[in-house]
Amino acid sequence: MDSIEIKGGVPLHGEVRISGAKNAALPILASSLLVEGTCTFENVPRLKDIDSILLLLEDLGCSVTRQGEGEVAVDAQGLNRTEAAYDLVRKMRASILVLGPLVARLGRARVSLPGGCAIGARPVDLHLKGLEAMGARIRLHHGYVEAEAHRLKGADICFDMPTVGGTENLMMAASLADGETILRNAAREPEIVALADVLNAMGASVQGAGTSKIIIQGVSSLKPVSTTIIPDRIEAGTFLVAGALTGGDVTVRDCNPDHFRAVIDKLRATGASVETGPDWTRVRGPEVIQSVDITTQPYPGFPTDMQAQFMVLLSMAEGTSVISETIFENRFIHVSELQRMGAAISLHAGNTAKIRGVKELSGAPVMASDLRASASLILAGLVATNTTVVHRVYHLDRGYEAIEEKFSRLGARIRRIR
Ligand code: EPZ
Repeated sequence: MDSIEIKGGVPLHGEVRISGAKNAALPILASSLLVEGTCTFENVPRLKDIDSILLLLEDLGCSVTRQGEGEVAVDAQGLNRTEAAYDLVRKMRASILVLGPLVARLGRARVSLPGGCAIGARPVDLHLKGLEAMGARIRLHHGYVEAEAHRLKGADICFDMPTVGGTENLMMAASLADGETILRNAAREPEIVALADVLNAMGASVQGAGTSKIIIQGVSSLKPVSTTIIPDRIEAGTFLVAGALTGGDVTVRDCNPDHFRAVIDKLRATGASVETGPDWTRVRGPEVIQSVDITTQPYPGFPTDMQAQFMVLLSMAEGTSVISETIFENRFIHVSELQRMGAAISLHAGNTAKIRGVKELSGAPVMASDLRASASLILAGLVATNTTVVHRVYHLDRGYEAIEEKFSRLGARIRRIR
């Protein structure tokens, strides 16, 4: 099991290229199941989670080839299995995204329930309710979802709350359903828009992606496409926070600043200077980090996936900040590790953390627990005095491509210990 060692205290300087977005690539790769033919995808990040979903697609009968830097081809002509086995799904809960495409394409699916993870129960009840509304017969059996439908019918579906995966699963299912589907209270993330763009390129008819009302007219079949994955807004945000936190000057390239305006606004509120261009964003750290309050929200609000990273920045601020996590019920696991490094954080009812800024963090051996918590421990190590070693970095490798190489190119003293 690899660890990452960081010797803190170096202001980061320079440019870093942002990789393709994990949370766009996963549903878009799943959408290739809808097509009898070969789809090709560029700018697919090299991540463990991507490996997992490609293994699952192969297990379902697709042929998958990876060429060169970030190109993936998926031929779903040979799709002949409808079961997503537990040992594949448990490794990557977003495997639930094959459910909608399998029912739409083959009329049946047996997908292991993903179960919870470190940050919460992560139910998929809204995915299932939507498929039922479209006429699927759903059974929960031995930890699996079994879904059947001769042909899905369009339905008018209102989500109890905006769900990214639920919106994606049902958008894909509705693309091949009979008639019109309306998704109300839909998630509005850029990854939803990216998926809708791919579905429309395949010949689907998806209108309104990016708003809370999406209308899909089902079609009888979809055709192969070639597409490029959008940049990862959370990776971009992570590097921008690192630049601000270390009092450096960092430019992230190949990003889309319009995908993380809430993060930019909050960085500016801490006193950092942030300039943006069409595909780049530059941050310069403030002399003194100002405290700010954060409440995570569905897009376009402040993203829950940036909460842990921002907590590190605020732990070095002047004054007290309050972070409210409204999306997941247990997304403060990083707090105990940050406290061990000297952060002054107290947890309160209602998923609220109070962060009193301290002068410095001290390096320590720490344990990664989930993807974004691991990123926050790396950030803390970058600014802490002496050495930090982050253990169990496989959590990090699920969602960040070559993170230690990217940070060392910015001047960080960071290395992977195999
Ligand atoms: C996606 O997860 C992302 N993952 C998450 O990123 C991200 O944190 C999350 O959206 C929220 O933005 C991918 O895109 C692969 P949700 P998802 O359905 O789709 C509740 C990362 O670090 N809910 O939007 O699973 C749920 O419990 C990951 O990259 C139900 O109750 O999230 C949560 O409280 C972590 N029933 C809220 O909705 C359902 O059927 C939002 O979940 C579905 C969701």
